[in-house]
Amino acid sequence: MTRTVFVNGAYTPEADAKVSVFDRGFLMADAVYEVTSVLDGKLIDFDGHMTRLARSLAELDMAAPMTADEILVMHRELVARNGLVDGMIYLQITRGAPGDRDFVFPDPAEVPSTIVAFTQSKPGMAQSPQADIGISVISIEDQRWARRDIKTVQLLYPSMGKMMARKAGADDAWMVQDGFVTEGTSNNAYIVANGRIITRQLGHDILAGITRKAVLRVAEMCQLIVEERAFDIAEAQSADEAFMTSASAFVMPVVQIDGVKLGDGAQLGKPGPVATQLRRVYLEEMRKQAV
Ligand code: PDD
Repeated sequence: MTRTVFVNGAYTPEADAKVSVFDRGFLMADAVYEVTSVLDGKLIDFDGHMTRLARSLAELDMAAPMTADEILVMHRELVARNGLVDGMIYLQITRGAPGDRDFVFPDPAEVPSTIVAFTQSKPGMAQSPQADIGISVISIEDQRWARRDIKTVQLLYPSMGKMMARKAGADDAWMVQDGFVTEGTSNNAYIVANGRIITRQLGHDILAGITRKAVLRVAEMCQLIVEERAFDIAEAQSADEAFMTSASAFVMPVVQIDGVKLGDGAQLGKPGPVATQLRRVYLEEMRKQAV
């Protein structure tokens, strides 16, 4: 089945979908995005993603081409037209195509923003076998720009980070700034130590994950203590367990950091109980609220 994508108001077969070569998303990474997961044909935490999208747009003085309600209708239409059961919807908004290359922002009254969206099918994504064994990460220096709280498409360094991880035989990379972990290449990072869940506090250094927010709510429901503060790689390596969160991976146990296996005894290098519980309860809660 050929995929139907959404481009500036039209539903189009992917082979016919076109964006201008002058689009600022293409030329300057002048664009923001959201990834919303779909389980059983329903959108997970849609409102959360729309709230963050509005903030990203506002931080960059970029016009919103559609309301959240219109985007909901469009997402549902993409799910229906593509018969999507489990997977993601990728949504991108750029500052449009001014018809030439110029560093100065175009007047939004003259140049409308570009909006595109497409589905990515991942059958059975909530039953990922990776969640049963956990993932390994390496640490790399965080060399991204200083406004990581805005979800822009400047993903070259995170992409390079994934390649560094792959080259080192690991699954992902945790980025480190001034000695402390910021986040994963495309996810938020957590450790569990002395019965506490520790994750970096929000700020310009990291993206405020929509999954992070929901998981911290779930942690509270489960009467787990959360400490929002920075941690370093040494503390992470001596932690009882670790995990990461994102819209596409949900809660994913991290079992090895820079070659050091986490946990001890029979639990050495295995997903820990806190990550396992959070993943289960998060998925239960999100399925209940899916739209
Ligand atoms: N990435 N931090 C970074 C740098 C991210 O790119 C992401 C999401 C997250 C987690 O945010 P959320 O829980 O809202 O997905 C944290 C998406 C999934 C991606 O780029 O594919």
